Amino acid sequence: MRSTFTSFGYREIQTPMFENLELFTAKSGEGIIEEIYAFKDKGGRDLALRPELTAPVMRFYVEKLQMEPKPLKLFYFGSCFRYDRPQKGRYREFQQAGCELIGTNTTEAYAELIALAYLLLKNIGLTNINVNIGNLTILSAVFDRLGLSKDQRKHLIPLIDKSLFDDVQTVLSECGLEPKKAQDFVTFLQTSDKEKIKKFVKGDPVAENEFTNLEKMLDLLGSSFQIKNYQIKLSIVRGLDYYKGLVFEIEAPILGAEKQLCGGGAYELVPLFGGTDVPTVGFAIGFDRAILALETEKFSFPKKQLDAFVIPVNEEMIQKSLQLAQILRQNNVTVDVDLLRRGVGKALKYANTLNVKTVLLVGPKELETDSVTLRDMKTGNQELVKISDVLSKVKNM
Ligand code: HAM
Repeated sequence: MRSTFTSFGYREIQTPMFENLELFTAKSGEGIIEEIYAFKDKGGRDLALRPELTAPVMRFYVEKLQMEPKPLKLFYFGSCFRYDRPQKGRYREFQQAGCELIGTNTTEAYAELIALAYLLLKNIGLTNINVNIGNLTILSAVFDRLGLSKDQRKHLIPLIDKSLFDDVQTVLSECGLEPKKAQDFVTFLQTSDKEKIKKFVKGDPVAENEFTNLEKMLDLLGSSFQIKNYQIKLSIVRGLDYYKGLVFEIEAPILGAEKQLCGGGAYELVPLFGGTDVPTVGFAIGFDRAILALETEKFSFPKKQLDAFVIPVNEEMIQKSLQLAQILRQNNVTVDVDLLRRGVGKALKYANTLNVKTVLLVGPKELETDSVTLRDMKTGNQELVKISDVLSKVKNM
């Protein structure tokens, strides 16, 4: 994942594991406290373990990075903490791998960002993932047209989020919407047919303009990144309160209930934290869930392999063995040395459990000719090798 992020020009940053509680309540209100680990420190300050990294990164940006040339591309790996009910794929401490793109909102910036999220998951070896793309500006323009109040929206959004479309229709009827209009809205939420969506938003300049840009972005995803397995899904509302405009999610259907691997979109936090307004967009991948998806897809994880294991055949050989290991390490060879003085037979058995390519036996007889015995652990073949040749031999194994 790191090499994919850096191949797109992103730079890694780290922020503290805990922040002032206010950083997370500023946008979401006090209600969020129920969902996070909030506590007072010895000085009576209200703090919280971070539930995510977007707000911390934006705080950092406002404090230190506003003058940097744009766009700024930042990525991170880190622990997050949420007071969730633990279950498979949902933990109270979990890892996120994510990024924030600051200073651009062009269609190409959005296309590149979604492509990056997709490729991060593809490049680690996942085969079956789906990208769903929505837009909150379009959704809110439609809410406006239907004349729904703030309270009514608040009631509807969790139902839309959970795809409970029958309930959405019921609530809309209760709000006094004609059945035909309610039905059309529910169809709009569920369709990914561009023509149907266009027809639905026709006459609303804000929604029309936003949808044209969305289409341009989708064209770039297909033509420049060869990503075609995406779906428009206008029912994506996202759980966090700071989103505005583009939103997207990537899921691994194989995971069942907790299938969402990645979530992101455009958002507004910088002005709230006292910075100069600037476009911001990003996403985060649930690292643990990505691993879970790989395991469920029966991905064969590469086994850790050690290049060499050095065994001193007696106590007098310890110093020479450590020296030899050190020379190899300085030349980028991964090496371990037997530290237990356990005898050659047992040490060889242990080396086997480490999945070592070669074992180097350092003994007094071999040292008389400045040599060691090199054992190929795959074939079991042994040969006498000059110490000056050990490095190239091990590297060529
Ligand atoms: P989020 O959708 O809340 O977005 O989290 C991103 C991902 O973290 C989810 O898709 C999921 O894979 C993983 N995740 C969330 N909660 C848990 C949990 N309790 N256990 C395991 N995995 C979990 C954000 O956090 C935004 N900050 C993303 C973002 C960045 N938006 C803009 N920039």
